[in-house]
Amino acid sequence: MISETSHPLVQKTAHYVKEKMMGEESGHDWWHVQRVWLLAQKLAIEEGADRLVVELAALLHDIADWKFHDGDETVGPATARAWLQSLQAPADVTDHVCRIIATLSFKGAHVVTPMETLEGAVVQDADRLDAIGAIGIARTFAYGGYVGQAIYHPDIPPVLHQSAAEYKQKRSTSLNHFYEKLFLLKDRMNTPSARRIAEERHRYMVKYVQRLADECYLDFPLPE
Ligand code: ADP
Ligand code: NI
Repeated sequence: MISETSHPLVQKTAHYVKEKMMGEESGHDWWHVQRVWLLAQKLAIEEGADRLVVELAALLHDIADWKFHDGDETVGPATARAWLQSLQAPADVTDHVCRIIATLSFKGAHVVTPMETLEGAVVQDADRLDAIGAIGIARTFAYGGYVGQAIYHPDIPPVLHQSAAEYKQKRSTSLNHFYEKLFLLKDRMNTPSARRIAEERHRYMVKYVQRLADECYLDFPLPE
């Protein structure tokens, strides 16, 4: 999947990230990064964004995820900067990529993280698209198993969480994650191309949750 025709900086970065992330078990693995990379390329072409910046930022966006570093959000951009500098990548490209990574993560239902450039918008859309649809469902339950949370609990009706602190700390269920994050993502897309894909994936997820609720005798409200 790493094309020999892509930019040498992209090729080297893809190999580096693959090596580093292979084997992560939380759903935060190389295959997530590869999907985001492929989706970001598609969106970049459709939206006319700079391919080099988009591809590098997509590849490096989860290189040291904030959740796995006690909330330290500087680790990712710093790791990406050190790597790009070791390749002697152009300073403006490095700065742009690191800025995207620093502003990318979703920090909770009510925390808005606007992207400053089209390239950032495209990478954020690609990352968010990989959290919804069939793959989003799979990642949610994989993450739930990893942290040991229940699939659902009849006494924990789905609610929207208010603050970033709550979002990080709370005890929850995997089903709740659809309500606190996944169902909100379709309205958070930056680009028209991503919005189209998101709407389709959203419909699929709602149908899935409806069916899960039916099979589990749950009477939870569903979004449109
Ligand atoms: P991203 O790659 O978008 O930054 P996250 O780090 O937020 O994703 O999470 C990795 C995956 O685990 C995503 O698919 C996300 O939806 C899922 N996930 C995150 N938090 C939870 C949770 N509390 N319960 C279930 N799934 C979760
Ligand atoms: Ni990601």
